[in-house]
Amino acid sequence: MLAMCHRDQWQADDLDWSVKPRALSPEHEVAICQYFTDMSGIELLAGELFRVQRDLATDPRLVAIFDSFVVDEERHAEVARRLAAHYDVHRYRTYTLNPHLARFRDAFVEAVHHLPPDIANAYITTGELLLDVALLRSLDDFVNDEMSHAAMHLINRDESRHIAIDYFMVEYYGSGAYDAWLAAQPKKPLRERARAAAALLTFLYHAGPFFKAVFFAPMDMTDPQGERLLEAFKRIQLLGERPGIADRPFPRFIRGVQSLFNHPVAGRLAGPALARVIGLDPRVIRTLYTEEEKRRADAMSVEELAEEALAAKYRS
Ligand SMILES: [Fe+2]
Ligand SMILES: [Fe+2]
Repeated sequence: MLAMCHRDQWQADDLDWSVKPRALSPEHEVAICQYFTDMSGIELLAGELFRVQRDLATDPRLVAIFDSFVVDEERHAEVARRLAAHYDVHRYRTYTLNPHLARFRDAFVEAVHHLPPDIANAYITTGELLLDVALLRSLDDFVNDEMSHAAMHLINRDESRHIAIDYFMVEYYGSGAYDAWLAAQPKKPLRERARAAAALLTFLYHAGPFFKAVFFAPMDMTDPQGERLLEAFKRIQLLGERPGIADRPFPRFIRGVQSLFNHPVAGRLAGPALARVIGLDPRVIRTLYTEEEKRRADAMSVEELAEEALAAKYRS
């Protein structure tokens, strides 16, 4: 993996930025410029999370891998910014980062410094699956021109490495080695625990509007049937419910809210409030996989699951 990280580096200037964008309707031009602006914010957030993971890693190879991911995400942010400028042919308006994204980012960065690292990893894996399997692919199909295809091709190559390591880390966070690491941590004073709880609540509060603004709303335009979105969430659910991972506190919390949501009475009474708590669209809170799919996924290795997720993004 580390050899691949070194070998497959590239620069934004390797792309040919002189190609003309295809003709777009005013509505589509505005939407595309805004998506790329927000994408650049998501990429920076991903970079921030990899920086945290790098600082926690002890294996020097893993440190170097995460270091290269930080560089990758900064490059993706730059490319997304340049794509936003590239499609901004008519200057209909100025594009700024969606404010929900900015609020979520601040809350999240604060939270990852206070919460156990498996939570940060659950979010980065979720975010990258959504980005790779659903959003970037649909966005590229929607923009559908040479510039976007060339940029996404290179970005996707990097993202494949990220997903492989995200899954690898999911496995680690479900393992006895992580239990041992947790047990060896000094007990946090009450003040720190209160701060961690406050950070978790603040970040959950901002997660809903963030997911809606940067994932669900754009996906509704670029993938109206929501096929890729549901596909990505199905993979997220299957991963979170694997034996060893499912009984961790955070997946358990999400699943608790989810089962209340799907309960015929509680769901009817408190459905919208529950959806608000975990910040997800009702469409993806219901169970998206069949029993057969669950049995099959549980029998697969994490590596095989990662490979299958990666294959899904290239499927038409
Ligand atoms: Fe990225
Ligand atoms: Fe990534």
